[in-house]
Amino acid sequence: MVVHLAIMNARKCFGAFEALRSVSLDIEKGEFLTFLGPSGSGKSTLLNAIAGFEPLTQGRILKDGGDIGPLPPDKRNFGMVFQGYALFPHLSVADNIAFSLKVRGVSRDERERRVNRMVDLVGLGGHAHKRPNALSGGQQQRCALARALVFEPELLLLDEPLSALDKNLREQLQDELVSIHQRTGTTFLFVTHDQGEALAMSDRIAIFNKGAIEQVGRPDDLYDWPNSRFVAEFLGTMNIIPLGPSANAGETCHAGFRLEADIETCSRSATTGASVLAIRPERLTLHRHRPEAAANVLPFRVDALVFQGSSVIVKGSAPDQLPLTLSVARVGFDEDLAVGQDRWVSWSRSDARLLES
Ligand SMILES: Nc1ncnc2c1ncn2[C@@H]1O[C@H](COP(=O)(O)OP(=O)(O)OP(=O)(O)O)[C@@H](O)[C@H]1O
Ligand SMILES: [Mg+2]
Repeated sequence: MVVHLAIMNARKCFGAFEALRSVSLDIEKGEFLTFLGPSGSGKSTLLNAIAGFEPLTQGRILKDGGDIGPLPPDKRNFGMVFQGYALFPHLSVADNIAFSLKVRGVSRDERERRVNRMVDLVGLGGHAHKRPNALSGGQQQRCALARALVFEPELLLLDEPLSALDKNLREQLQDELVSIHQRTGTTFLFVTHDQGEALAMSDRIAIFNKGAIEQVGRPDDLYDWPNSRFVAEFLGTMNIIPLGPSANAGETCHAGFRLEADIETCSRSATTGASVLAIRPERLTLHRHRPEAAANVLPFRVDALVFQGSSVIVKGSAPDQLPLTLSVARVGFDEDLAVGQDRWVSWSRSDARLLES
């Protein structure tokens, strides 16, 4: 891995409030890395520090091994697209895109060549002469993207650039961003609190929680191997089954009268004290009769069925009012299933994760 940006023990305080608590992260050259987390978790604070808008209270940010702390924003050579980052209203699309080249003293011919290429890249052909107020919201965002990419920045910082757009437009621009990322090879740092967006677009995701990074990894790894209950519940839907303090990895565990769970394959998550089992809805299997397996079986009563097209969400409860959610494929679905019925659920031992509660 070639480290493009190294964030080392970054800490940021606003008065007595600690918005970033000693964050460290290596960002690889050319990767698409997403900051994902709840509102107020510090995503924009770190992005602003990288952009150079806000100095860190402590810690350092290295680019290609050199400390960029002393550099003002315009000397960092980073492109930026922020939500509502206004275009110049009196300039055409082409002139908006050309602006940063003009500032950098790029010749007229070269400007024209690069602007035309950007206009094509973001799909604004035929709109270059228009003023921003004659563009749709999505077209304005594309223009902002073109403006940020035209001077070929080595790093592009994007803070929720799609959040003001409707769903269809957002999905279309997500695909476009991914394809632009592939074509340009630029390092993308993308901020969102939309987990679907993060899972669909990123090479890696950093999950933020209360000013710290909880976990960094590939989308599928974070989804399958969350290392904390926060990450498990933040990404997608997760069933959480409390085990009590006696559960140990490698042993068959009897959690009260509720559950016999063989958890030895879950030792990737070390645990202390009380723990929980975390199981994805699509990893639970629904049975009409009690399955033969001795472990990982619970009685289950159906409380609600939610049709979702290709799958059905089955909500219900196990004894002791333990809520469970299953996602069952529509193909082969038990069409007799109805609210109020008693069934069984089971899961295979490799599908449950043991996490600290
Ligand atoms: N200039 C500031 N002065 C004081 N507090 C600030 C300032 N900027 C941010 N904060 C606080 O720091 C915390 C982190 O803010 P930040 O903007 O990084 O959150 P975020 O993760 O980007 O959230 P969102 O998803 O809502 O954009 C918040 O509690 C915020 O109120
Ligand atoms: Mg923010």
